[in-house]
Amino acid sequence: MGKATLDLRKEHDAILRVLKILDKMISDPMGDTNKLQYYSEVVYFLKVFADKCHHGKEETYLFEELVNRGIPKEGGPIGVMLREHQQGREYIALMDKSLEAKDLTEFNTSAAKYHDLLRQHIEKENNVLFVMADKVLNEAKQDELFRKFEQHEENVIGHGVHEKLHAMIHAWATEFNVN
Ligand SMILES: [Fe+2]
Ligand SMILES: [Fe+2]
Repeated sequence: MGKATLDLRKEHDAILRVLKILDKMISDPMGDTNKLQYYSEVVYFLKVFADKCHHGKEETYLFEELVNRGIPKEGGPIGVMLREHQQGREYIALMDKSLEAKDLTEFNTSAAKYHDLLRQHIEKENNVLFVMADKVLNEAKQDELFRKFEQHEENVIGHGVHEKLHAMIHAWATEFNVN
């Protein structure tokens, strides 16, 4: 497994962990005000970490490199992944909207759709697309992509924010008892 795809797989683990935490938040008997606060923190995480940082690394660098290697953009796994990223953005926008309206039922519906989408999306990347990537990209190319990922992280979210996001996961995991 190359350095770049390994980095993305680790981010998948972090995203899945946050989705597990969100499920726990949703089923927790705490009051609505607390729920709204936690949900908006999770939505912030999903926007910055899952979409801007992670999907950004995939779309801008990994997928482009795979297209350069002859894997088609349309009519194959890359086209499907791009559409699912877009669908995810739409669900996040709906989650945002329901938080503004303080509509927790609507939030739960969009959150469940997002969770289902991301779970199967990540499974496909881990088991299909990244396996293909590991076959066509040599170690030097994986290292080069990884360096671009680090630069992307720095440019898009910055070092301090990255640390903060991991600290948020840690705090939620402790509070909601998620491994
Ligand atoms: Fe993706
Ligand atoms: Fe991904």
